[in-house]
Amino acid sequence: MAKQPGKVESAEATKYAALSRDIEECRQEPGSTLDMLHAVQRHFGYLEPQAVGMVAEALGLTKAQLYGVATFYTMFFFEPKPPVIARVCVNLSCHLRGAQDILHTLEEAAKEQHDAFEVEEVMCLGLCEQAPALLVNEEAVGQVSAEEALAKVQACVTTISG
Ligand code: FES
Repeated sequence: MAKQPGKVESAEATKYAALSRDIEECRQEPGSTLDMLHAVQRHFGYLEPQAVGMVAEALGLTKAQLYGVATFYTMFFFEPKPPVIARVCVNLSCHLRGAQDILHTLEEAAKEQHDAFEVEEVMCLGLCEQAPALLVNEEAVGQVSAEEALAKVQACVTTISG
């Protein structure tokens, strides 16, 4: 399909406008740095440099200071990622209840679908009583088979890709 520059520019402009609104909403609240960085990642999928610059300007900080904060946390991305990320817990409770099956099934599907989503191993999501557990973007999913986990991820990919 041919690229449609006007549409791409328009989509980007929409993201910056939405970020600008989010920044305005939370700039009066103390300690809003992380909220603003989350907003950047929510709109762009990662800490897009120009958007981080908007946050830096709003907070009176430098981009380097914001990246210094962001690198402390594992939930921020510094390069574009697929729109769906499945974080599979592989810690003990989940390991004993089938986490490796889920991980293997999702990794194979991600390869077959040319990285329509990304799979990450994580250590304990705090959902041990629902083992095996995973996060599909920000949604907690527990007590699922590998097939059910894959269906959940596929549904998220379909929803996001429209
Ligand atoms: S061990 Fe998997 S969520 Fe805690």
